[in-house]
Amino acid sequence: MKLIGPFKQVVTLANLPLRGKISDEQIEIVTDGAILISDNKIQQIGNFESLKSENENIEIETIEGEQIVLPAFVDSHTHICFGGNRANDFAMRNAGKTYLEIAESGGGIWSSVQHTRNASEEELLRTLLERIDFLISLGITTIEVKSGYGLDVENELKMLRIIKKAQEQTKATLVPTCLSAHLKPRDFEGSNEEYLQYILTEILPKVKEENLAKRVDIFIEKSAFQPEESKVFLLKTKDLGFEITVHADQFTPGSSRIAVEVGAKSADHLEATIDEDIEFLAKSDTVATALPGASLGLGEKFTPARKLLDAGAIVAIASDWNPGSAPMGNLITQASILATFEKLTTAEVLAGMTFRSAFALNLEDRGKLGEGLKADFVTYKTDNFQNVLYNQGSLKAENVYIDGVRI
Ligand code: NIG
Ligand code: FE
Repeated sequence: MKLIGPFKQVVTLANLPLRGKISDEQIEIVTDGAILISDNKIQQIGNFESLKSENENIEIETIEGEQIVLPAFVDSHTHICFGGNRANDFAMRNAGKTYLEIAESGGGIWSSVQHTRNASEEELLRTLLERIDFLISLGITTIEVKSGYGLDVENELKMLRIIKKAQEQTKATLVPTCLSAHLKPRDFEGSNEEYLQYILTEILPKVKEENLAKRVDIFIEKSAFQPEESKVFLLKTKDLGFEITVHADQFTPGSSRIAVEVGAKSADHLEATIDEDIEFLAKSDTVATALPGASLGLGEKFTPARKLLDAGAIVAIASDWNPGSAPMGNLITQASILATFEKLTTAEVLAGMTFRSAFALNLEDRGKLGEGLKADFVTYKTDNFQNVLYNQGSLKAENVYIDGVRI
């Protein structure tokens, strides 16, 4: 047993709802609080002095100066296993070049596929671990990581095995997702449907056999996979026992509806979602994930998070960190900016990066601070938790704890 404190504010998020809008008055704050840890889990949150006197001779990890503590963040959508760099895509896009022009001059997803295929396993593992360490430094201790830059059996398995290796070398929780359906690779001879069939028969059985991922993702978009073929594919992956998540409605509406129909855990992007489909999503248990990093990377509009929350959807916020559309990787900055444009409350933003994104990953043991939950949390040297979003990412995390241990 160990008592960590005192904290000026312990923001537990414990009583907040899974779906819909939340006002800041609903946030309960334990002032002069502490966290009692037992067996690496949270046993109790309460007043520091009271917990200290109730637990004589307990080990105390003293917090110096004024600090606040929040549940650690959960980034439920990233593509951080990749080779190469697409700074030239970014520059060309800002110079007015179109998607097609960028692809024709050697950019786009296909260029990341080539760089990732050509990168050594050591290089991919090293850069993946560096990105994981950066996310941990922001207070993010649960990180989804997609494949999707291999796009054939050998290279998709290479990516997923590297993600598994990274898990052995980090205390953060990694959640691998198979995104072989990111794009039909240029060297695949056959139709989209044939490529999706190839994933089902050649890739996913091996993913299962080696226990490399429990989740499957697909990019449904004019430039990638079409709605009908995607729906057939997703239903088959479900039959194979995978959970589903979808890159939906990024530029063209329609695919979030498919995500809901197939019972996906989440539909991510949604920048182009129409009002009717917002209602449809809001009535489902499919998490609507906003990816403000992609809007900022591409200069496109934001996900209509306000409308989704008002309609009652479960709204998560994730970074989408990838070399193309979302190169920044700083979820805290991105979520703070989304809040100013979409008019989201502090409670809604914090929920979106914690227990709501955890729900999208089927991890209901985290994202709040309360009895029996995973002891992952982040502290800041400040007297007011509002400063975390107010400073838009420039207030650095002071300490990050995983399973009750400072790392
Ligand atoms: O989530 N939209 C498709 N996939 C990624 C982009 C990947 C890339 O450009 O490399 C996304 O934005
Ligand atoms: Fe993505």
